[in-house]
Amino acid sequence: MRIILASKNRGKLREFQEKLSKSGIEVIPIDEVKKVEEPSETGDTFLENAYQKAVYYAKAIGEPVISEDSGLEVEALGGLPGVRSSRFAGENATDEMNNRKLIEELKKRGLSESPARYVSFIVLAFPEKKGLWSEGEVRGKVITEPRGDGGFGYDPLFIPEGYTLTMAEIPLEEKNKISHRGKAIDKLVKLIEEIKKW
Ligand code: IMP
Repeated sequence: MRIILASKNRGKLREFQEKLSKSGIEVIPIDEVKKVEEPSETGDTFLENAYQKAVYYAKAIGEPVISEDSGLEVEALGGLPGVRSSRFAGENATDEMNNRKLIEELKKRGLSESPARYVSFIVLAFPEKKGLWSEGEVRGKVITEPRGDGGFGYDPLFIPEGYTLTMAEIPLEEKNKISHRGKAIDKLVKLIEEIKKW
């Protein structure tokens, strides 16, 4: 089975491929399949954004499409950056700019850390108007001293509960076992196995 991943994020791609290849599912990034104009992200929730994107691309491409919307919710910032995680420091912001902004926001409040969680919502849309969705979270804290060069996004600033290493210091295979996306992908794989039995 082949599924198209509606994301340009190579970090996400590696995480999907690492997990889904074990179930015999090939994950292909959308830019290797077809040039389709990107829809804008207008949803107020992760699920809405993931749903809109997956349905849009499945219709445009005529193949099963996975879309994932994820982000970081920081308690001291009232849940921000949330659905704005990839553009916290502005449209087209890099991971480094977003990380710097997060550190600044914590320091402005006199904080060196805050409880936080990563959340992930995945939608798998089939062109024949059927779909599946799943979600996952990982709780932990964010810090103001970045560490590690693995992962992507806010990983150098995020320490999962029960760990002293940041997510960027934890090997990918282990990150995939404990992460929000890893948990959401595991749930999705179970659902795919179920529909294979239909
Ligand atoms: P999306 O591509 O709109 O889902 O944005 C996801 C954004 O949330 C990324 O650009 C990161 O800033 C953040 N994010 C989501 N998952 C992770 C992760 O596993 N590690 C680090 N940052 C993440």
